[in-house]
Amino acid sequence: MKALYQMNHVSKIYQNSATKLHALNDISLELKQGEIIVILGPSGSGKSTLLNLLSGIDHPTSGEILFHGTDLGKMSDKELTLYRRKELGFIFQSYNLVSNLTVLENIEMGANLSTEPLAMSEILSVVGLQKEKNKYPYQLSGGQMQRVSIARALVKNPKVLFCDEPTGALDEKTGKKVLKSLQEINQKFHTTMIIVTHNPSIALMAHTVIRMNSGHIMEITHNKNVVDALELRWA
Ligand SMILES: Nc1ncnc2c1ncn2[C@@H]1O[C@H](COP(=O)(O)OP(=O)(O)OP(=O)(O)O)[C@@H](O)[C@H]1O
Ligand SMILES: [Mg+2]
Repeated sequence: MKALYQMNHVSKIYQNSATKLHALNDISLELKQGEIIVILGPSGSGKSTLLNLLSGIDHPTSGEILFHGTDLGKMSDKELTLYRRKELGFIFQSYNLVSNLTVLENIEMGANLSTEPLAMSEILSVVGLQKEKNKYPYQLSGGQMQRVSIARALVKNPKVLFCDEPTGALDEKTGKKVLKSLQEINQKFHTTMIIVTHNPSIALMAHTVIRMNSGHIMEITHNKNVVDALELRWA
């Protein structure tokens, strides 16, 4: 089977007038479809840069990135926009909900991006927000808000969900509930999840763990036995 993503000798250099910053150094890797992939590394190690390149938001300085064998570098801006709209979902540390829309209306915003959205009832049940559907964001806890943002990203049934520090603003208990939602979504819809985090405990729920430091891949490991998100222990 073809890899979902293939990165070949990818580097990213940010150039100021005085300095050159090597955010990513000659990265080559393959990511498999349907996996939960956790990217670990200290601040500044290049995790968000890697996500931005895979999602076509930014371009590598050198090297190529293939999505299902198609070179992102050869796509036009329009094709890249369609790629992001059709194939990708995004979840961030801050939830970016629209404050004057209800839970249901926030999720519908995601559905409007798709010609074949998933059923709203199914989405609400998988993130456990049936009872909250008519509430406004200020009436929700942090974990509930993050589950709305997951539902909004997921309702268009993307192939890949990019999550940059999805539990960064949450306490342990709430964070695990959010991760459990992601795990259930992965099992139910086979959505590939690429989760960036500082929290090494989260690696135990991943199929594949990528450890980064200073723009380099230090190690890639595969877990034979994946831990249920609710069983994780924050280190
Ligand atoms: N637009 C930019 N211009 C210049 N330098 C940048 C830019 N974006 C990132 N960098 C630098 O590239 C390096 C990698 O940054 P990146 O945001 O990928 O790190 P990160 O691993 O996501 O860190 P964090 O855990 O703090 O989010 C850092 O040294 C950062 O300062
Ligand atoms: Mg980052």
